[in-house]
Amino acid sequence: MEVKWRFLEKERCWAWENVPYCQRPEVPREQCMHIFVPEVFLKENGTISDQRHKNGFTAATVPVIFENGLGGYRESEPFYPEDPKSGGREFLEAGFVYVSCGCRGRSSLNAEGVRCGKSPLSLVDLKAGIRFLKHLAGKIPGDMEKIVSVGISAGGAMSSLLGVTGNSPLYERELEGMGAVCSETDHIFAAQCYCPILDLDHADLAYEWMFQGKFHYTGMPFVGFGAGELTPYTKALSREMAAAYPEYFNGLKLRDPDTGEILQIGKKREGSACAYLRKKLEESAAKYLNRMEQEQGRNAVETYLSDKTSWLSWEAGNVRITSLDRMLDTYHKRLKKCPAFDDLDLIQAENQEFGTPQQDKMHFDTFLAPIMEKLAQEYPEESKRYQKGYQEIQKDEGLADRKYRINPLNFIGTGEKGDLAPRFRIRVGSMDADTSLMMTMILALKLAETGKVLADYEIVWEEGHGRADDPGEVIRWIHEICGTTCFSLPVFYKDYL
Ligand code: DHB
Repeated sequence: MEVKWRFLEKERCWAWENVPYCQRPEVPREQCMHIFVPEVFLKENGTISDQRHKNGFTAATVPVIFENGLGGYRESEPFYPEDPKSGGREFLEAGFVYVSCGCRGRSSLNAEGVRCGKSPLSLVDLKAGIRFLKHLAGKIPGDMEKIVSVGISAGGAMSSLLGVTGNSPLYERELEGMGAVCSETDHIFAAQCYCPILDLDHADLAYEWMFQGKFHYTGMPFVGFGAGELTPYTKALSREMAAAYPEYFNGLKLRDPDTGEILQIGKKREGSACAYLRKKLEESAAKYLNRMEQEQGRNAVETYLSDKTSWLSWEAGNVRITSLDRMLDTYHKRLKKCPAFDDLDLIQAENQEFGTPQQDKMHFDTFLAPIMEKLAQEYPEESKRYQKGYQEIQKDEGLADRKYRINPLNFIGTGEKGDLAPRFRIRVGSMDADTSLMMTMILALKLAETGKVLADYEIVWEEGHGRADDPGEVIRWIHEICGTTCFSLPVFYKDYL
């Protein structure tokens, strides 16, 4: 393949664009990547230079950032650094090689108009991208043993999956079919996961447990519904689902990484796991408020807190969430209807993600049919309307497989084959109500329990669903894990070192 670099003046970097990463792409515009390389690592004639970047790396040692753009499980073409969805500018400025990798998604269509991007094909495409990059090792700048995956939301789930399913045989059939570079591996060095939407097997129950008693939702206009109130039927569903969650959660037998204590929840929003989550929220708020005090003074903090006194206290640098319940009423508000993911009317992204080429949208949550059965007498009309759809999927093996292969939890501490990335960084916004905050916490704790990886997990205060982060920290983390020096930290962070 001919390598073709074009110089981008604005970013002072070289770009190789629309590079196909497999031999038989079904959707060539999606199954390709853009590769961006800081100016210093290439000569004018396109060969690798032996110059050193001011941050210390050479073309042979520079980490490679591998960002996917999967949002709402929708297919994405690779993007440019100036795209608001891209983290490319920051990564390139820091001197890293930046790859934006496209992939198929839930509504991808091939040239014949056939649906071709259902689960797990987004992940398979990204794995093909990793293999392709490794195949380029030595031919383009970048240490392909230092690939750091980055993704947000559904893309954050993909990032965690790239981190836990390295070289898993479960995706080989599809990789071979598409003509990926099967002689290469697809394990990665690190995964940055922003607000990952994961464990769709239990996401609906987790959501109702988290938002139990909160029946007003703020809505998702781009999915097709605005703010509203749950109906009597969905309120009843919510109560049953919330009550069913602890059995699953407590069965995980997660432990507090500091004390070794088993983390449990009760039917209400209580228990040691809930206390652990509260502690993570308090640490997050403390970081935010203490920084605000340092940068803007005490008055700014007092003003910020003035409408939060019923649930948040701050004294001498210590933060307490005095009422999680009030926090959920006024700050971290319910976003979605019930069920939150396997929507009654099949309007959520996940309904389409778990469809097939023949059936675009499907139900997938197998906990719901028995709960609906329980409510059938009291709600005959809704039961008649909805129950059948959920019953039909109970024994669908194809569906079970599609769910299995995009749930990272199936690969962590389970004996399922998959090479783990040694480093993870998980960030979620304190206002992110796209999924239960329990989900990211579970991911982090399960990873830590393997004893094989470092999982850096924080909630980021005052951030919602997206690239929830503190300025400059992701760059510092990449330097830390790669053992390189970071000379270009924002001033504020230097104060903390
Ligand atoms: C995304 C958001 C959601 O609420 C969801 O259910 C799935 C994906 C997203 O932003 O990618």
